[in-house]
Amino acid sequence: MVSEVLNTNELHKIDPVFGQLSFDNHEQIVFCNDKDSGLKAIIGIHNTVLGPALGGTRMWQYNNEWEALNDVLRLSRGMSFKAAITGLNLGGGKAVIIGDAKTQKTPELMRRFGEFVHSLSGKYITAEDVGMETSDMDLVREVTPYVTGISESKGGAGNPSPITAYGVFMGMKAAAKYKFGTDVLEDRSVIVQGIGHVGETLVEHLTNEGAKVIITDINEERLNEVSSKYGAQIYRGNDIYSEDVDIYAPCALGATINDQTVNKIRAKIIAGAANNQLENENIHGKILQGNGIVYAPDFLINAGGIINVYAELENYGKTEIMRKTENIYNTTLEILNNADLNNLTTHQAALNIAQGRIDARKKENSSN
Ligand SMILES: NC(=O)c1ccc[n+]([C@@H]2O[C@H](COP(=O)([O-])OP(=O)(O)OC[C@H]3O[C@@H](n4cnc5c(N)ncnc54)[C@H](O)[C@@H]3O)[C@@H](O)[C@H]2O)c1
Repeated sequence: MVSEVLNTNELHKIDPVFGQLSFDNHEQIVFCNDKDSGLKAIIGIHNTVLGPALGGTRMWQYNNEWEALNDVLRLSRGMSFKAAITGLNLGGGKAVIIGDAKTQKTPELMRRFGEFVHSLSGKYITAEDVGMETSDMDLVREVTPYVTGISESKGGAGNPSPITAYGVFMGMKAAAKYKFGTDVLEDRSVIVQGIGHVGETLVEHLTNEGAKVIITDINEERLNEVSSKYGAQIYRGNDIYSEDVDIYAPCALGATINDQTVNKIRAKIIAGAANNQLENENIHGKILQGNGIVYAPDFLINAGGIINVYAELENYGKTEIMRKTENIYNTTLEILNNADLNNLTTHQAALNIAQGRIDARKKENSSN
């Protein structure tokens, strides 16, 4: 399994798709183009052994197509492991739409995207990710049933972000239990990077528990809004990684733990919502382990959202959603202990369990 990821400046040096280092035997990659609406999207289907590939759609102004492809490959792979470790019968997929969600997202573009999703006949089921709103999923629903995260008024499970935030909070508490011997976060200092849909609710949980919350975001308006709502402190320094805090919660984009940051990090725990936090999971995971920093694997603790949207497919209700999400606490603690016992990085320990479940199902399927 290839797990290294190149620096994006070097991507052009390798073959465009199957030769990408982020390519990990993905089953299918679909490039979608629609001249009239301006849609340019890529759907990545990593693995469908456990079930249809489910994963959100991200709309982002990538610097180039390599970045978009690299992102969809990494994100869809992460979804396979997220579903597997959470015990869901889903495969891993993800989509990226290239463009600025604030200025280029139109109902026509969303519907055209939905038609591309529909053309895959349910092999890929979409949902919300960065740059998307529940109302966008409602537009996609107009043209395909292969979408989750639609409005509650339309029979969906609604915005998955609050449940994701709750799962991250559970994972963070488990990491605290492991590191500090107690999962009480009162008076713990937590820096939340990115206070969007997930980050804000995480700030709410942390504030309710009496943690000292510090927030950072590139959106100044959001900072002021969230700060005044929860009394969180706005970070005004110039290097959050060097801050002496108990917990760093990455809730913006991925790869923030990289060559430039990894050795500066002074937080004792890393637990956040962002997907693919480790730019290179082997290298950076090992450095964190060596530096004694407890890393709660992203794909494990941010699974609340997928648990929430899975409810739409399996028809279970809020009680089961909350039970499954709360269980992230137990799974995280188990994996942190398992990593310790086997001298693995926490990321690798989680990955092994997820891959084990996929392999076992594959074997089962082939013997039937
Ligand atoms: N929404 C979900 O249910 C869900 C589920 C699993 C994983 N995730 C992941 O969690 C992360 C956050 O998701 P979201 O739905 O809250 O997205 P969002 O778009 O609502 O919020 C992201 C926030 O991060 C900020 N941001 C962007 N770049 C930043 C930077 N360099 N520094 C600081 N802030 C920055 C943005 O301004 C925005 O406020 C994403 O990586 C997403 O893939 C989300």
